[in-house]
Amino acid sequence: MTTSPNTTPKSTSTSRTGLEARLAARPDGFPAPDAFEIAEVPVPDPAPGQVLVRNLFMSLDPGMLLLIADEPGLPMPRYEVGEPMYGDAVGEVIASADTSLAEGDLVVHRLGWREYAVAGAGAFRRVDRAAYPSPSLHLSFGLVAYVGLLEAAELRPGDTVFVSSAAGATGGMAGQIARLKGAAQVIGSAGSPEKVAHLTGKLGFDAAFDYHDGPVVDRLREAAPDGIDVYFDNVGGEQLRAAIEVMNVHGRIAVCGALNRQRAARPDAGPGDLLSVVGKRLTIRGFTLRDHLDRAAEFGEQFRGWLRDGSIVHDETVVDGLANAPRALRDLVGGAYTGKTVVRLGS
Ligand SMILES: NC(=O)c1ccc[n+]([C@@H]2O[C@H](COP(=O)([O-])OP(=O)(O)OC[C@H]3O[C@@H](n4cnc5c(N)ncnc54)[C@H](OP(=O)(O)O)[C@@H]3O)[C@@H](O)[C@H]2O)c1
Repeated sequence: MTTSPNTTPKSTSTSRTGLEARLAARPDGFPAPDAFEIAEVPVPDPAPGQVLVRNLFMSLDPGMLLLIADEPGLPMPRYEVGEPMYGDAVGEVIASADTSLAEGDLVVHRLGWREYAVAGAGAFRRVDRAAYPSPSLHLSFGLVAYVGLLEAAELRPGDTVFVSSAAGATGGMAGQIARLKGAAQVIGSAGSPEKVAHLTGKLGFDAAFDYHDGPVVDRLREAAPDGIDVYFDNVGGEQLRAAIEVMNVHGRIAVCGALNRQRAARPDAGPGDLLSVVGKRLTIRGFTLRDHLDRAAEFGEQFRGWLRDGSIVHDETVVDGLANAPRALRDLVGGAYTGKTVVRLGS
């Protein structure tokens, strides 16, 4: 059985208080601002075996909309109405009643959407404070991109790679990692001319197009006249159908997400006619990060090296304050930001 990360035993309370964000009501469709509430709550002292963490940054992920909507078949528990929401966060231990963690340790965990997290020490994983220039980089989706390319898409040197939502958290990393792993050509799609320029400029994609500019299949054919070998799919719908059409024999598709149905009232998520999947002997493989956490250390080592020598750009949007997080989640999926979006909860 999967348990919610919110099962925090309560203990003696101090005078400390902190903000937490809750789901106020389960919305019908895309959540309006009143689907969320921000509450000030007492912060309990850690009971024996527990740790108190002051959160520094939390991750915003379009997948949170699926937990709000209670979509069937999710690998994680839905958000419950009236309960604090949860998600990836990085914070600093400020009190510990367990020998495994000490005051001052930097930890990653799943108790985001709140300024303070109190839980058993097992809920927290200590990370290296010196690993990155900012603790927020511990929330990067680089590992998602890495395992999607190497495990699900079986990327090979010389491949032509297409990435959708390429200016986003996962897509921006997928395009850059594909290049670093030997792709011959990397093509990205995004939702505005500014994002297209960002892809071919700052992120070093070979070609990019705006998926609003006419049929995606035409734009993709122009960018890849010899076809594509790998598609890193964050979106589904028309972009997936176009990728199947433009794909070379034995092409491989890694399905990372379905942004197309995370925002739309009437989603266009289907891959369409699968006859060419048969004819071209294509592989379409969904993946989730949780099946590949054993590659985290290997990825982290390479990621730090790429950051040090300047061969990768970690693009990030920082939103300040928990009170702004619900709006930022809506804006994120609406296309307002580039890179990994995080909320700063403390300094
Ligand atoms: N498999 C896994 O383990 C795993 C792990 C993490 C995330 N994910 C999933 O991977 C996907 C990408 O995550 P992310 O955090 O990197 O998100 P992201 O790409 O940063 O998401 C925000 C972007 O989504 C784009 N978007 C929204 N609706 C769209 C639509 N209908 N068509 C095309 N683009 C649309 C917008 O870009 P434009 O302005 O370009 O439209 C927006 O800027 C999500 O579905 C997420 O849930 C999967």
